[in-house]
Amino acid sequence: MENFNFYAPTQVLFGEGQLKNLPNVLEIYGKKVLLVYGGGSIKRNGIYDAIYRLLPDADFTIVELGGVEPNPRIDTVRKGAALCHAEKIDVILAVGGGSTIDCSKAIAAAYYYEGDPWDFTQNRGLVKEALPLVTVLTMAATGSEMNGGSVLTNPETNEKLSTGGISMIPKASILDPTYTYTVSKWQTAAGSADITSHLIESYFSQNAGASVQDRLAEGLMKTVVQYAPVALEDPTNYEARANLMWSSSLALNGLTGRGKLGSWSCHAIEHELSAFYDITHGIGLAIITPRWMEHVLNDDTVAKFVEYAVNVWGISTEGKDKFSIAKEGIQALKDCFVSWDIPMTLPEVGIDKEKIRLMAEKAVEHSTIDQTAYVPLTADDVEAILLNCF
Ligand code: NZQ
Ligand code: ZN
Repeated sequence: MENFNFYAPTQVLFGEGQLKNLPNVLEIYGKKVLLVYGGGSIKRNGIYDAIYRLLPDADFTIVELGGVEPNPRIDTVRKGAALCHAEKIDVILAVGGGSTIDCSKAIAAAYYYEGDPWDFTQNRGLVKEALPLVTVLTMAATGSEMNGGSVLTNPETNEKLSTGGISMIPKASILDPTYTYTVSKWQTAAGSADITSHLIESYFSQNAGASVQDRLAEGLMKTVVQYAPVALEDPTNYEARANLMWSSSLALNGLTGRGKLGSWSCHAIEHELSAFYDITHGIGLAIITPRWMEHVLNDDTVAKFVEYAVNVWGISTEGKDKFSIAKEGIQALKDCFVSWDIPMTLPEVGIDKEKIRLMAEKAVEHSTIDQTAYVPLTADDVEAILLNCF
């Protein structure tokens, strides 16, 4: 296990009805609130009205920034930062999924930055101070509710890049599983695949001996495998939604990733698919991950794949060679995504072969996967992985 710095300071208010604490949480930071939300789901499911009831005009002034896109765009960040200055905002309230929260994080830091916020994606060191951020999570997926990461898209340059900093970590996050009851089957499956991917990306790392992290990751993976089908079948099942929501936060708040080395392969590749084709993040990851596994399975990695197959999927080892066990584990993951009704090929999400080479080169250019990934990947490797998704 490597040395690490684990810092997860977000106050988490978990469970049905926790929104009632919102006024107390917000007023620590001020009364002038920028309410950031997405394309309107919070208006349709009543969360928007509930927030206005809790934050009456007499106590709070709310300025709104709605319309944050899935795969949030840099222009929306610029608009939000300008609003914060014009309205002298004290605190940002992000209500939504990862896109709304990521956009809010960038707005919070852009407020204190004189240059263009896209610079944050080129140099994380530019992220210094940030406005305080409180979130109300409406979708289990990214873990953004409990970490300092933010992923932004620049549609003009077809770039989707991440940034982050400790000042961007939410001060508090309200996690009410009932708010995810209205999440569609498609987004429930995508979010569950995203959680799974976050766990897998850290699980398969170059260093051994981080047993705490790996056993926690296995438990979380099994939880998602258990509850995603329940939520897909019965969207208002509290137990399923609660377990998926808490898994989302724990899968990417550092708990399973700190102390482990290396850059993430599937995310680096998926971000290029989203950058060029604006696809749903978790769906792209589900398509890529089993193909990436097949590509990196070799004599050096097979033992870890056996560990994964046995501990996560309960694959029996009796009478089988290591590679057969490893391949059964990979097949189990693929079958699982299929059972969640995820389309498992790129053409099914509107991607043809035209830009495969370009995306492969960009995945390497925008990351360090050719040096620090679990198995280092060149553009040729990424191209081969993507071509296996047809
Ligand atoms: O925009 P609205 O109308 O709210 O609808 C959203 C959106 O269309 C909808 N939705 C969310 N909650 C809902 C709901 N619909 C009905 N009922 C609800 N309760 O779901 C759609 C997707 O929302 P989005 O926020 O885009 O999803 P997600 O949480 O998966 O976030 C994806 C973004 O986060 C980035 C991804 O790359 C992508 O840009 N990531 C952020 C990370 C982080 N900050 O740590 C890490 C991840 O790996 C990821 O890269
Ligand atoms: Zn992700």
